[in-house]
Amino acid sequence: MLIRPATSADAADIAALLDEAFGPARRTRTAALLRGGSLPLPASLVARGEDGTLAGSLQFFPVTLAAAGAAWPLTLLGPMAVARAARSQGLGRRLLAAALDRADAAGLDPIVLIGDLPYYGPAGFSAVETGDWHLPGPVERDRLLLRRRTAPPLPMVADLVPAERAARCVTRADPSPNLADA
Ligand SMILES: CC(C)(COP(=O)(O)OP(=O)(O)OC[C@H]1O[C@@H](n2cnc3c(N)ncnc32)[C@H](O)[C@@H]1OP(=O)(O)O)[C@@H](O)C(=O)NCCC(=O)NCCS
Repeated sequence: MLIRPATSADAADIAALLDEAFGPARRTRTAALLRGGSLPLPASLVARGEDGTLAGSLQFFPVTLAAAGAAWPLTLLGPMAVARAARSQGLGRRLLAAALDRADAAGLDPIVLIGDLPYYGPAGFSAVETGDWHLPGPVERDRLLLRRRTAPPLPMVADLVPAERAARCVTRADPSPNLADA
């Protein structure tokens, strides 16, 4: 199994894999609304078998956390999917570890995702900081997970929105340490 950076040439196979994994409703899920019209970031990965078949995909997208007219650039992890025939063999965890290594090398921090804590918790994700973040669609609070390595604390009450909406806010490259009331 070869894990390598995703390119535009992988796009059609990735779309087919995601249709298989999530069904057609995937385009209206909250995570899709968050991605908006953004393109996947270069840290995104695919896994292909020796015959070239796409076995897995993990994409990153830019998103924005907005509060009180300020904006923080965040990275959305997902969608991630492994082909049914390749599941439960550790590929998902290998993809996740490799993608987070790439994200760290690229300075993508913090990273947010909608997913299950038992799967993503061991990779450093938790729902501790996201309890009062509002999204463009429904989300179970314990499934909105954040991994923050070196970035300063983020506002506790905020809107997580597609990256293109950052233009309406002032980007906070160096947020003040006391953002609990933002
Ligand atoms: C989630 C997914 C990517 C995992 O891929 P994978 O290659 O099977 O993952 P791994 O082999 O590394 O790990 C498999 C283990 O994780 C567990 N697991 C899978 N999804 C899980 C979840 N949502 N929550 C908790 N555990 C999960 C499995 O039960 C399995 O345990 P087992 O090995 O004891 O059977 C794959 O199941 C998938 O594509 N699912 C459909 C799409 C999806 O839900 N994507 C994630 C969106 S957040």
